[in-house]
Amino acid sequence: MSELSLMTQQLDALLYDEQDQTANLANASALLMQTIADINWAGFYLYQSTNDELVLGPFQGKVACMHIKNGSGVCGHALQTKEVQRVANVHEFPGHIACDSDSNAEIVVPLYGKSGQAIGVMDLDSTTLDRFSIADEEQLIEFANVLIQHIDSH
Ligand code: SME
Repeated sequence: MSELSLMTQQLDALLYDEQDQTANLANASALLMQTIADINWAGFYLYQSTNDELVLGPFQGKVACMHIKNGSGVCGHALQTKEVQRVANVHEFPGHIACDSDSNAEIVVPLYGKSGQAIGVMDLDSTTLDRFSIADEEQLIEFANVLIQHIDSH
């Protein structure tokens, strides 16, 4: 395996021996926000199977919508397809949910546990069009994989 990025190493150290999911996600969102340049929102939506939807979790940024149906918007699409959604221009994404009208680009990484269960999604927004590169995507997937090791108790 290639060497982990500094941000992912910091995450691994930060969450060491902490079992509380809210605490872990809160600090993960803060780490993303303080490390990654030119983003205006970073955080998590958590999957609730009862209503088959995503519910707002720990985040940094402006207030956001609290419930997103599975399959809806960029977040719901990432959850449903289990594929990273790297969107250069959110205004061209069918069904995009505009929480912060300043956002122009978005990347959403689906979070699935070791047993294949849906945990939720990690979402980052930027006011800059085409902000997120393939290198950013790879780094965020790596970050999400380490995060899942800390929050997946199954
Ligand atoms: N734009 C997202 C909604 C969440 S906010 O960006 C924080 C979407 O379309 O799913």
